[in-house]
Amino acid sequence: LLLLTTSLAVLPELGALLLLATLGKIGFDSTLGVDMQALAEEAKARYDKAVFKVVDLEDYAAEDEEYEEKLKKESIALFFLASYGDGEPTDNAARFYKWFSEGNEKGEWLNNLRFGVFGLGNRQYEHFNKVGKVVDQLLAEQGGKRIVPVGLGDDDQCIEDDFNAWKELLWPELDKLLRQEDDSSTATTSYTAAIPEYRVVFVKPEDAMHINKSFTLSNGHAVYDIQHPCRANVAVRRELHTPASDRSCIHLEFDITGTGLKYETGDHVGVYAENCIETVEEAEKLLVRTALTRYADLLNLPKKSALLALAAHASDSKEAERLRHLASPAGKEEYSQWIVTSQRSLLEVMSEFPSAKPPLGVFFAAICPRLQPRYYSISSSPKIAPTRIHVTCALVYGPTPTGRIHKGVCSTWMKHSTPLEESQECSWAPIFVRQSNFKLPADPTVPIIMIGPGTGLAPFRGFLQERLGLKEAGVELGHAILFFGCRNRKMDFIYGDELNNFVDSGVLSELIVAFSHEGPTKEYAQHKMAQKAAELWSLISQGGYIYVCGDAKGMARDVHRTLHTIVQEQGSMDNSKTESYVKSLQMEGRYLRDVW
Ligand code: 2AM
Repeated sequence: LLLLTTSLAVLPELGALLLLATLGKIGFDSTLGVDMQALAEEAKARYDKAVFKVVDLEDYAAEDEEYEEKLKKESIALFFLASYGDGEPTDNAARFYKWFSEGNEKGEWLNNLRFGVFGLGNRQYEHFNKVGKVVDQLLAEQGGKRIVPVGLGDDDQCIEDDFNAWKELLWPELDKLLRQEDDSSTATTSYTAAIPEYRVVFVKPEDAMHINKSFTLSNGHAVYDIQHPCRANVAVRRELHTPASDRSCIHLEFDITGTGLKYETGDHVGVYAENCIETVEEAEKLLVRTALTRYADLLNLPKKSALLALAAHASDSKEAERLRHLASPAGKEEYSQWIVTSQRSLLEVMSEFPSAKPPLGVFFAAICPRLQPRYYSISSSPKIAPTRIHVTCALVYGPTPTGRIHKGVCSTWMKHSTPLEESQECSWAPIFVRQSNFKLPADPTVPIIMIGPGTGLAPFRGFLQERLGLKEAGVELGHAILFFGCRNRKMDFIYGDELNNFVDSGVLSELIVAFSHEGPTKEYAQHKMAQKAAELWSLISQGGYIYVCGDAKGMARDVHRTLHTIVQEQGSMDNSKTESYVKSLQMEGRYLRDVW
């Protein structure tokens, strides 16, 4: 949430002006090249009498009632909302989203509010930027005045570009609202984001006189200061104590020949020293190693802002120029080819620009995004495994167009982790649980249809364990049918024995497996569904639930089409009737998808 306020004195007619924006998920921003802090900085630089703050939507209001109270008082709000999976909000936006999309009867209560929405999504997904679109629409319906069209960030192309384009539309509107009329001086100066200058510039003596005007006084004397120290050689070093002493005192002489550095008797010399190697190694172990291991997403494709920050620290001007070009509008096509299509990781890019050596602070703040948690659908049920969380994770491993072997961060870690059953010195990870609404029907006698090829099986293994627990407790169960897909019975029929046991114990009524690499033609789960159309229609008509889990881009789309066809043909409906029927299944929570 970005809060930008100006004081009453600046804009009395607007009252206390509050510019407010929400960020989908802390950390999500820099990963995608949408940086709220940077936006706030930029706004600060443009509207110097304003006060700016970035707040997480979750922290904006402790209670639902507070949303209304607070939002009523805001004047300008910018929302940054990510959509993931099946068009769902991020965790920290979920409460607000639910409250806002349900409370539609309040009429035009947001008359005071001017708003803008920027969505973060991916066009490959069916519900592209749903959360952003819905909130944008609702804000307008409830009386808010839209100052800029909803931004539809598309991670399939380049969210950073979409964000920059959206900002170009935003600034002129904010100028109108936040700048005073006599403020034309600043209104015309365009702001370019500053790369924080953390580094100390070492000036070589021979360059000191002409490297940069700012280092040179008008009389031609080079000026060095704390930010621009002079590189000086140690000419003499002597121990002043005798060997008999158990202490040490050093005599040192810096050579300032030809540097232009002047001093007077009684002055002090400031010396930038280096840490000794033992200290560095110790710190490296404690900090850098940990920071790089746990927090740095080194294999991500670098954002344009990261390229600019690298350019600012490249000593070779050709490299700096090329980096800047790649990040510029003129280099858009090249960026898209050389970085995105080639899947060049940050590390790969850095190795191609060896002169770009950013200080660690800059590296972590502006170049390398934070390693994000990876989410897995839990493949167990607490009914059967109360003390364990099971994960079913496909290894991400394969060559990229540049020939690099891309190894998925989390799946690789899992593959090489050491389990407690092998060693007391086992691997560990910080984990947490995210709630979902992908749940079995409250009434266990209601029939269920599960479709989950590959690791899409994960939550269904949990479902079946849950049903096993219920059955063992004497609960009556409804019909359950599972469509699973894998390549080959001998290779990737995961949990095959368990699934057969579920059938034997009556927990699973039917197990239907499509093997895509066994027959002469590929057979997928949805082909098996089509063969069972009449039975599926009968289960749906009895109030059955449909669950789909797995890949959103290919499988879930194809399964959705198959379901549509089944409903249309079996229910003898026309196209639009079918659509509204499937939609109503979704609205009733009887057609649930856990897709990625
Ligand atoms: P394939 O790898 O032979 O293409 C689990 O990954 C199973 O899902 C595999 O058998 C895989 O087949 C299959 N699969 C791939 N694309 C699919 C799609 N669009 N719909 C359903 N199954 C698919």
